[in-house]
Order: sequence, then structure tokens, then C-alpha cells
Amino acid sequence: MNKLSLLLVAVSVSINAFCQEVKENKGFYQFLTDDPNQKPFYSDRQGVVASNGMVASAHPEASKVGIDILKKGGNATDAAVAVQFALAVVHPSAGNIGGGGFFVYRTRKGKNYTLDFREKAPLKGHKDMYLDAKGDVIPGLSLTGHLASGVPGSVDGMVEVHKKFGNLPWNMLLQPAIDLAEKGVILTAKEATGLNRIKNDLLKVNSDTTYFRLPDGREWKAGDLLVQKDLGKTLRRIQEKGRAGFYEGETAALLVAEMERGKGFITDEDLNQYHSAWRTPLVGQYKDYKLITMPPVSSGGVALLQLLKFVEPYPLKRWGWHADSTIQVMIEAERRVYADRAKFLGDPDFVKVPVRELISPDYLKQRWEDFDFNKASESKVVKGGYIPTYESLETTHFSIVDKEGNAVSVTTTLNGGYGSRVVVKGAGFFMNNEMDDFSIKPGVPNMFGLIGSEANAIAPSKRMLSSMTPTIVEKGKKLYMVVGTPGGSTIITSVFQTILNVLEHGMTMQESVNAFKFHHQWLPDKTTFESGAFTEGVIQRLQSRGYILEMQRNTIGRMDCILVRPDGTLEGGSDPRGDDTSVGY
Ligand code: DON
Repeated sequence: MNKLSLLLVAVSVSINAFCQEVKENKGFYQFLTDDPNQKPFYSDRQGVVASNGMVASAHPEASKVGIDILKKGGNATDAAVAVQFALAVVHPSAGNIGGGGFFVYRTRKGKNYTLDFREKAPLKGHKDMYLDAKGDVIPGLSLTGHLASGVPGSVDGMVEVHKKFGNLPWNMLLQPAIDLAEKGVILTAKEATGLNRIKNDLLKVNSDTTYFRLPDGREWKAGDLLVQKDLGKTLRRIQEKGRAGFYEGETAALLVAEMERGKGFITDEDLNQYHSAWRTPLVGQYKDYKLITMPPVSSGGVALLQLLKFVEPYPLKRWGWHADSTIQVMIEAERRVYADRAKFLGDPDFVKVPVRELISPDYLKQRWEDFDFNKASESKVVKGGYIPTYESLETTHFSIVDKEGNAVSVTTTLNGGYGSRVVVKGAGFFMNNEMDDFSIKPGVPNMFGLIGSEANAIAPSKRMLSSMTPTIVEKGKKLYMVVGTPGGSTIITSVFQTILNVLEHGMTMQESVNAFKFHHQWLPDKTTFESGAFTEGVIQRLQSRGYILEMQRNTIGRMDCILVRPDGTLEGGSDPRGDDTSVGY
């Protein structure tokens, strides 16, 4: 396409945008004018405000651990290490030492770092490991049991973070988690329900009973004390020996024995070879804001920057939050971005990921050419974009800001809730089922309905593609916001909405977290939304333009975020959809 036609496209996009604006501009919360009785928020929870430090995480005990570390003179990274280990105890469905994740860090002086401690496929892993003789996927094999696990990265990741940035001694950072494991943690209603949900799986994949399953299949209830003695011992070995306390010696022996018992693939060699990787942060701009986020092997950062660039030309603020035009441009951006994700994204150590091209204005402009306000695009037509040089080939988040203004954004995961459900016998922790994040067969959706291609096929020691999007936002060269969430494929769109809610719709951090969310991921070609996210009027107008809308029974996202307010105080916003809690001081 020549320059003139590109210009015409750009002009017609902005004329369309303008017409729509005139038609649809009904004030700040068009939502409320449409139906004054409908609330835009999941809850009326208020943010937590403090001046010296803030920890927002999935569990009140873990947030308290982080704040105690900050009060004892630890910096944000010390607190992050302590919170990661504490979550492994108090939030076993997602907090972990048997999983992996991503760490995004902005120092008070504005230097940025990202650490990739994502799991890797075992050396024995291969493309067809979840297929039967006919080449069909064996249901459940990449999700439950020993074969579902990648080589864990969390312990190595925390060791690396502490080596590079830590202030307090390592043993101090492990102690709170050890205490919680040995003395026990009081189960919340949500944690009790979670453990009850998996009680039969626990029996199926483990050779022995574990402390996660009550004798005789009794049910857990809120207020019960969960004591994790074996995990306590494992954490003590990590406390004493650091990396070697997990990847060597007794913990490694227990893990490998567990794998042998269940015909899993992870060996001593896999554990020895595992190392997390410092990556160059992915940095982008949205209006006056700078975004610091995770590069591949997360797809989250690339996708978030693409999404923001797609919507940047439109007057979202004037249209209003969840006005049909606002939703429409967001859905169409999501459709195109997830199609690209499926086609291009994978482990950069194995495949060339065209990151620069994917976020370049020319490419994005060309991807937007078929956008039409009058009619929904069709996912079967949209597909992944064309880049000429390209060769085909239960998660949890926490945000921390310390007194000095150092900021950490970490998302970490076992993948599904309680991962593969395998508890390493004698070592007392859940293993991940992250292998399902690979494309186990081209075109076959994973547990989040995401489809992948060759770029994300299994290979020995390769990392599986992720959607985790830990992100830090700067305004005027200063720290502004720390954001992230679990939620599988909905992570990217939840982070996108949470950022826009603050930047465009003037919400506080907590309001933005409370606000109802929606999601589109290219395929299946439908928009899911939380009950209450759209008014009847909006639903009808979108449907009349061809959008397929589906109300979700479940909630979307469990955000844990921090905003720096104009007076310099910090507002922690933690998701009322979970046990998530912000603690400040
Ligand atoms: O890395 C990913 O994208 C997934 N393993 C995340 C899984 C997840 O968020 C599940 N929790 N709700």
C-alpha cells in the first residue's frame, strides 16, 4: 500500500471516529446515563492509602509479610522475595515454589529490569508428548499429573532478584514463610473451597495422602488451620542453601523421585540446568505515559502495547467508560492482538519473535484498515497479521512500592489452580501444569481457549508462552502505577482495562480494580463480560453491529495494583473478587 492510501485510511478512521463521537458522546459515565440504576463496580471497596510503602497481594497474610520486611529496612525487592515465598504457603492454589513467573522492577532512579523465571520444558519434552498414536490430543495429560509440569523457576528467580538487588539477608526473607508453614495458616473461605474442589484429583495423582487433603475426604472450612510441615522443611533448606536448597540435595531428590513415581519427565539434569534470565524490559509509550513491561516469553507486554496503540487515537474519555464505541474499539483491538499472539509469539531463545514490527505504527495501522464502526469484524477473516521478514516456523500477582519509590510488579503461577495437583512427596509443594501453555497441537486450544502455532510448539528446555503482564507505568518520568493480575488469557485485557480506567476515565486505583471487566481473544469470536459490565442499551447496540456477547458466570481478574496519587501518597487497589488485600504503612 502506498503512502497516499495509508493517509486516506488514517483520515477515514478519524472521520469515522469523529462521527461516532458526536453520536455517542453522552458524558463521562455514558454507562450511568444509559441506566442510572446500574452500578459500574463489582464492589464499593475503597483503596488503602499510605505514605511509606504499599504491598498489594492475593492474601492478607502475604501482604503483611511484605510490609513487615519494608518496615525492617528491606527494599521493594526484599519484600517481593518474602511475599513470593509467603504466597507459596498461604495461597497454595497459585503462590508457589513449584512454578514460575516474571519480575518487573523500576528503581527509584528510573532504571528498569525484568527477570524471566518462567518454567521450561523438560529435556525429554517433545512436540508430540500429549498426542496419541493417531496424533490426537490425550485429554487432560497436559493439565493433571506428572507429565503436565515444566521445570520450576520460582526459587532460582528469587535467588537472582536477591543477589542483584536485595538489602536484607536472605534468611530473613524466608523466615515468615517458614513460620506460616510450620505454625499453620487459617484458611479463608475461598482457600477452603479451592482445596475441597481438588480433593479427588489429589487422590488420583498422588501416591500418598497429603496435608492438602483431609482424612476420609472430609471438607475444609473457613477458619481451619492448614499446617505444612514438609513445605516448612523445604523452605528451611532453601533458607540455608539458596538455589542449592531446591535444585540440588534433598529437595531435588524428592522432586525427581516424585517424577519417577508418576512417569514425569523432570530429571536432576533438568533441575541443574534451570536458570532464570534477565531480559531487556519492553518499554512503550501511551500518550504521556511510559510503560515498562515484560517482553517474550510473555505475550503480555507486546499485546498490551499493541492494544494501547490501537486505541490511542480515539477519544475514549469523551465517549465514556463502557460506552459502546469505547467497547467496540477495545474489542477490535483485542481481536487483532490475540490473532497476532497465536501466530507470532513464543520463546525468543528458540524462535524469532518480531517484537519491534508488531508494535510499530505502520504495522498497527495496516492491521486496523478493515475496522468499521458499523459492523463487527470477523475473527475468521482477521487472522494474524503479515510481517514480511517473519519466518514461519492459577496465577497470582503482587505489586510493591517502598519508601524510596522502588517498585516491583510480579506475576507468578502454577498455571491452573493448584497446578498439576501433584504434591512432591516429602517436600510438600504443588507442581505446576505449565506445559499446557505450549501449543500442544497446532490449532488445538489450551485450557484458556488460546490457540498457538509452531512458534509455541514444545521443544526441550524451551519456555512456554505466557499471558502474564506485570507492568509499571510512569508519568512525567516518575513512578505512576504498578499493575498486574492472574486470569490466563484475560490477564492482558484486564491489565489493559485497568490502565485505561485510570488514565482515561479518571478512576482511582481501587475503582479501576472494582470496575467490571470484559474480554475478547480473537478465537472464539465472542466477547465475554462480567454481569453488570454493560447496560442493556449497550448490549443491544453492540449486538446490532454483529458482536457476539456472552455474560460470564465467573469474575474476570484479581488485580493487585498501586497508584501514586498527586500528593505522592500511595493507593493500594486489591481485588474484592478474591481475598486480595493491600497493606500500607
Ligand atoms: O502464563 C500464563 O499465561 C498462564 N499460565 C497464566 C495462568 C493463570 O493466570 C491462571 N490463573 N487464573
